[in-house]
Amino acid sequence: MERHAAGPAGCGPSGAGGRLWLRPSPAPASRPGDSARSRRPDHGEIDAVARGGRDGRGASNHDFGISRDRRGVGWSHAVELTDQGDWTRVTSEWEVESRGDLEALRPERLFSLDGKVALITGAGGGVGGWLALGLAAAGARVVLSDITGERCAGIAERLGAGGKEHHVVAADLRDPAAPPFIVEGVLSRFGRLDVVVNAAAVNERRPIAHADPEVWSSIADVNLRAAYFLAREAMLTMRETGGGSIVNITSVNAEIGVEDVSVYGAHKAALAQATKTMCVEWAKYRIRVNCISPGFLMTSLSRPLWQDEARAKWILARCPQRRPGWPEELVGACLLLASDAGSFISGASILVDGGLLAGSPWNP
Ligand SMILES: NC(=O)c1ccc[n+]([C@@H]2O[C@H](COP(=O)([O-])OP(=O)(O)OC[C@H]3O[C@@H](n4cnc5c(N)ncnc54)[C@H](O)[C@@H]3O)[C@@H](O)[C@H]2O)c1
Repeated sequence: MERHAAGPAGCGPSGAGGRLWLRPSPAPASRPGDSARSRRPDHGEIDAVARGGRDGRGASNHDFGISRDRRGVGWSHAVELTDQGDWTRVTSEWEVESRGDLEALRPERLFSLDGKVALITGAGGGVGGWLALGLAAAGARVVLSDITGERCAGIAERLGAGGKEHHVVAADLRDPAAPPFIVEGVLSRFGRLDVVVNAAAVNERRPIAHADPEVWSSIADVNLRAAYFLAREAMLTMRETGGGSIVNITSVNAEIGVEDVSVYGAHKAALAQATKTMCVEWAKYRIRVNCISPGFLMTSLSRPLWQDEARAKWILARCPQRRPGWPEELVGACLLLASDAGSFISGASILVDGGLLAGSPWNP
């Protein structure tokens, strides 16, 4: 790190984005707007500032400062230059603890969801059910949501047998009132919401020549509109409680054209795109939004494909692993995105497809 004596605004060379500037003098007694200080009383003073402004002519909210607390743990904060020529913390949203400590890197801590509440839609299905089990195994209290409570009964029973705290909220996602209803159900049971996994989906395969506007809308209602508005509803509560993680389950069909899958593929692509805007708009609330994009799995949704010999052959020929994926094989990616292990991952799409989109062998 290059040390510079930081003076008043304009102290650095122009175009200095990314360089670190060290504060020269003790901090002023009064630090206006320092809401982070009251939340984390053991913070030290800001002792280094990286200039984010493009022309280096003054501080902006893009600048960030680094401090150390009494344990010596580093924190980064959004900072602003005061009239006295000193840096002050202006928001708490960007505060991030540095993982200087080896203990914090142990997988059981890094991937821990202890104290978190996770909501999973489609929790009665193949993927949603496994993701609920995976998130609960990492310590989360889970809320299972599906079109009926009965669909979640099997997973609820497994969670109960494992001593995992859980709750069921049944709702039909075709109903525009479902997203606020589900989030309200989570809050009334657990009082907070930290992780949302949008896993519910439907599909109806048919050629575009036989497209039907009603089918188009019914698929969009569940796969796109409900996921979008559930994410929005979750954001409204997460931003009040310090952030969260939203995981949208999309599909390789968002990337490639597959005969008869135009509507499902178009809506999954739209959800992947909306994920990026959510990432951009909600980062200030410490909410991360990502996708998991699965390949061809073995669940009830894809059963018709595996039951059709020609289609099953087509999939196996194209997938380098030459096998279907199992829904539990999404758990690792979901834990990464849901936990602090993924704290700097947002707006991403993680492919879990056995290599399908990487390419195909000559002779399958
Ligand atoms: N199975 C695959 O090969 C595959 C591939 C890529 C992506 N995906 C995605 O994975 C996710 C999970 O799919 P899955 O394979 O577990 O399918 P699944 O059919 O086993 O589960 C889907 C769940 O969504 C629920 N659901 C459907 N309509 C609903 C509604 N109106 N209201 C509330 N819940 C409703 C169903 O009851 C079901 O439990 C989906 O987003 C799907 O698009 C699956």
